[in-house]
Amino acid sequence: MNLHQELIERDRKVTFHASTHLRDFAHGDVPGRVITGGKGINIVDKDGREFIDGFAGLYCVNIGYGRTEVAEAIYKQALELSYYHTYVGHSNEPQIELSEKILKLYGPGMSKVYYGMSGSDANETQLKIVRYYNNVLGRPQKKKVISRMRGYHGSGIASGSLTGLKAFHDHFDLPIETIRHTKAPYYYHRGAEQEGMGEREFSAYCAQKLEEMILAEGPDTVAAFIGEPVLGTGGIVPPPEGYWDEIQAVLAKYDVLLIADEVVCGFGRIGTDFGSHHYGIKPDLITVAKGLTSAYQPLSGVIVGDRVWQVLEQGTGEYGPIGHGWTYSGHALGCAAGLANLEIIEREGLTRNAAETGAYLQQKMQTAFGDHPIVGQARGVGMLAALEFSPNPAARTQFDPALKVGPRIAAAALDENLIARAMPQGDILGFAPPLVATRGEIDEIVARTKRAVDRITDELANAGDLKD
Ligand SMILES: Cc1ncc(COP(=O)(O)O)c(C=O)c1O
Repeated sequence: MNLHQELIERDRKVTFHASTHLRDFAHGDVPGRVITGGKGINIVDKDGREFIDGFAGLYCVNIGYGRTEVAEAIYKQALELSYYHTYVGHSNEPQIELSEKILKLYGPGMSKVYYGMSGSDANETQLKIVRYYNNVLGRPQKKKVISRMRGYHGSGIASGSLTGLKAFHDHFDLPIETIRHTKAPYYYHRGAEQEGMGEREFSAYCAQKLEEMILAEGPDTVAAFIGEPVLGTGGIVPPPEGYWDEIQAVLAKYDVLLIADEVVCGFGRIGTDFGSHHYGIKPDLITVAKGLTSAYQPLSGVIVGDRVWQVLEQGTGEYGPIGHGWTYSGHALGCAAGLANLEIIEREGLTRNAAETGAYLQQKMQTAFGDHPIVGQARGVGMLAALEFSPNPAARTQFDPALKVGPRIAAAALDENLIARAMPQGDILGFAPPLVATRGEIDEIVARTKRAVDRITDELANAGDLKD
């Protein structure tokens, strides 16, 4: 047994892993891997095997691995001050500077930033803000939050309820009361009755479904709507044309707050500073995490818009200091990492690279997979891309889930030393390379993916599994 295998065996005995088949991992029936380092878009394991990380960790290591500038910024801050709490007006210099930077990057309309450690806890904060806001305004019944099927907003009790994926609800008694899920803006799977609709018509249809839900619940009970600019973990699905305009018109009509969950799109991933800029979204509240520090430290943020902020101030005028806070809110090391990260994104033009090299990625995916016998759709925007597999692309049918086509293709990609993510609902392979990726590296990602997809296509054909 080599050192890597020894480590894995120790790990099996002591660690509870996220999103893992716990029994099979503990009993040695699913492989483990210990990652020891990384440089640029590559990571390396304890055996020295190198992989291209086509998913930037969990779409978060946007500036790439091994950036010593960030390590140095964290070290320098740790020498001065690692931590002091930020309750009752205490602060630290990196927190002040980072908030100024984020608000400037977003542009007008946003007022303050509240920090947490994860996208999930930031969305918990959002839900508390929404409740508090309506209590201050004397509308205690206006508390429901509408999310979307296939949305992803975290995996806590409340944030996991916002998530619209079955695996995050089943056996956990979720979603909690007060959370609803409306139709996903998933044009590819628009449904038989919507088959004849164009994208714009389908967007109007999604907005109509939302309006029907608001009316059925009672507009005076619906407080907020939450959505990712581009559906992420639910399948990497850019919205159909006109979707956000249609949705925002409905929200304005019923005085429903809009929370933009920018955990994936924020800080450059789709070629704009925020996904909201790309789609003309004007949120009241924004959730950020991942790309804020490129995961060099855990840090998330809730960006509060002017309209909501005024009410929060009014509330504390009436009720006293706000009853919300985490020990690590505004952690100095997280904020120092965030600053160093945003400086790199700015200095190296990574948002522009995400737009330009991202367009190249989309074009290469189309060329390689546009007419592939098992690819129903190659889609994406900026440095976010997905392949959705189908036994009959023309009819957009789905494989029998028992065939596990998505996971098998991800495993075949791994054999090519490429990490791409089998998305949790459907046979979909996701890509979100670090924003530093070059055209040459994109070529390599696409070439390795092609070999993996072709191999599984042959396997499926030989087993007679390519029938509808
Ligand atoms: C859009 C979105 N929101 C929230 C989250 C939750 O973030 P975390 O895993 O840091 O709690 C994620 C994580 O993938 C996400 O993609």
